[in-house]
Amino acid sequence: MKTFTSKIISAVLTGALALGVAGCAQPAANDTGLKTVEAGKLTMATNAFFPPYEYYEGDEIVGIDAEIAQAVADKLGLELVIEDTEFDAIIVGVQSNKYDIGCAGMTITEERLQSVNFTTPYATGIQSVIVPEDSEITDVDTLLAGDYIVAVQTGTTGDIYMTDDIGEARVDRYQKGNDAILALTSGKVDAVVIDNEPAKAFVAANPGLKILDTAYAEEEYAMCINKDNEELLNAVNQALDELKKDGTIDAIVAKYIPAEG
Ligand code: ARG
Repeated sequence: MKTFTSKIISAVLTGALALGVAGCAQPAANDTGLKTVEAGKLTMATNAFFPPYEYYEGDEIVGIDAEIAQAVADKLGLELVIEDTEFDAIIVGVQSNKYDIGCAGMTITEERLQSVNFTTPYATGIQSVIVPEDSEITDVDTLLAGDYIVAVQTGTTGDIYMTDDIGEARVDRYQKGNDAILALTSGKVDAVVIDNEPAKAFVAANPGLKILDTAYAEEEYAMCINKDNEELLNAVNQALDELKKDGTIDAIVAKYIPAEG
């Protein structure tokens, strides 16, 4: 009898305690034990002007990142919520627990690793140079050596590397990749430096532009996560690992980037 009663009492106490903890915890834990900004949800920040990784189809954000994040969320038993924001607001938002993950064709860099953790990479990228078809810029060295003006997306690696290499005065920053392209087609700038897959999509959509054969930089894409949420980092890495092994990631990439040749 004694044991029975104390069991009931301790069960009630544990329940009350759990409720109390859940009531004030932030981020909140769901029943998988993962702490997220909103319990039961995986809130992803992206910048959805970056085809084929993320772009709008009507009101919906689609693309490689959206589908990989969805597959990860499914594995973690969380509901995926995608929020579109400026690219340079993603890392700050992850740091301040506004978002659980940043997933935006984001390159792992030493500098960013000071502020956030990155998952294992799920794709590779290249910084490409777009110029008008009749441009006298024939390769990256010509571009760097001249006094050409280059448009980039604010806060991206294209921006960071170009600013390092040719200085502020020759770099024109735009919040959206599309606007950098518009600056090029309207003759305001001489080139755009941007990731290779969006570059291909932009060139396909804007006649009269081409991509230089020489690449500017090679990179790896990963999702970023708050440094204090190692459980989430480990769970996402585990999910990515499974999705790589079972061919899901390859299938998603192949859907958006048809194999060449
Ligand atoms: N890979 C580049 C970087 O990490 C550009 C990413 C831009 N992504 C986007 N969704 N607009 O800086």
